Amino acid sequence: MGYQRVAFLLALITVVGLAVQCNAGVTSTYRRRLAASVDMPLDADVFQIPSGYNAPQQVHITQGDYDGTAVIVSWVTADAPGSNTVKYGKSKNNLHLSAEGNVRQYTFYNYTSGYIHHCLLQNLEIDSTYYYAVGENDSVRQFSFKTPPAIGPDVPYTFGLIGDLGQTYDSNSTLTHYKANDDAGALLFVGDFSYADNYPNHDNVRWDTWGRFIESSAAYQPWIWTVGNHEIDFVPSIGETVPYKPMSNRYPTPYSASGSTELFYYSVRRASAHIIVLASYTAYGKYTPQYQWLQAELKKVDRTQTPWLIVLLHSPWYNSYNYHYMEGETMRVQFEAWMVQYKVDVVFAGHVHAYERSHRISNINYNITNANCLPVPNNNAPVYITIGDGGNIEGLATNMTEPQPSYSAFREASFGHAIFDIKNRTHAYYTWHRNQDGNAVAADTMWFTNRYFNPTNDS
Ligand SMILES: [Fe+2]
Repeated sequence: MGYQRVAFLLALITVVGLAVQCNAGVTSTYRRRLAASVDMPLDADVFQIPSGYNAPQQVHITQGDYDGTAVIVSWVTADAPGSNTVKYGKSKNNLHLSAEGNVRQYTFYNYTSGYIHHCLLQNLEIDSTYYYAVGENDSVRQFSFKTPPAIGPDVPYTFGLIGDLGQTYDSNSTLTHYKANDDAGALLFVGDFSYADNYPNHDNVRWDTWGRFIESSAAYQPWIWTVGNHEIDFVPSIGETVPYKPMSNRYPTPYSASGSTELFYYSVRRASAHIIVLASYTAYGKYTPQYQWLQAELKKVDRTQTPWLIVLLHSPWYNSYNYHYMEGETMRVQFEAWMVQYKVDVVFAGHVHAYERSHRISNINYNITNANCLPVPNNNAPVYITIGDGGNIEGLATNMTEPQPSYSAFREASFGHAIFDIKNRTHAYYTWHRNQDGNAVAADTMWFTNRYFNPTNDS
């Protein structure tokens, strides 16, 4: 009997072991080159200043209201304040509409910014291409963008995803690769913009070069901004004690349209998606403005109109790399139960310079006495995706915790971008593209089924 019992136990251990193996995630064996990422020099072609006196540069747009019928146009003029006017219209040769913006400057230690212009274009027609022009005289520059379709449950729409971009040769590879996918109508940016703070005195010239670098995409489609730690720019040692000064002067968000009282957390609706942007470095404890705003905003989500509920934040809640380990833990503890309660489809984060996708899991049962503190499969929970692999100067996060946690479905330390392609109210196709492959190649894919209309076990 004793021998039989041992044999049975051994068989059981083998079966359990196999089951664990079957459920284990994938740590990709792909190995990219491991050379350090180097910032492009100031005279790189992607940083080129446009020709002409006081020519507008660093042109970028973001969504300007709650539902996508407004756009904020931003640009910088270097020599003089110039004009705050944006001329626009639906015909390339007849920009018969115009809107008036405002202009500002800021200083940062020994740096003085150019003249930063922001202008809101409102009451735009849905699903339309608009052409717009900024600048004066011989230095006028013209761009275009497409407004999203009307809000509705079955409206297909494609979002791009980039995080932690910076301005290295790898950043350039990521952005070039992303632009090759011309289906994406808007970019969800998960924080850490220019990495100017890696330079002495946070040399804000690198904020300018970054603005020129992203223009080739950001002037033509809205980039939805999430704030990261590299936007804080808090440097008391040189007298810079106002956090977020460069970012808040340069990159506006439509925060007030969603009832938010701060630039860094807000919400927009676009086509069939409701996108909630959280701020990892703004207070989120109970009673704080961000906490109260999120609590109210989640109640406003109408899945019958916007079935896809997407959350963006910077510091990931689930991360199995040995970098920034558990930095997102306090925010997870504060908000994860709401993500499950409201059946969020996916949470995108950056911060860790690599790629990782989780299964649908939650860790919300712990109550300080019950010892239930492990992530468990949960079909109402979001998929957590870390996409901080834009290619910045700090290089790749290559060191992973081992063994790979069972909640981690796929992880790989390569630079890249992702595409979230909403097909209808039930399905979205997600792809992650590493820079070393052609644009058509997806290194990681997942068919998402919607948590409200079709909550199958999809992860
Ligand atoms: Fe970060």
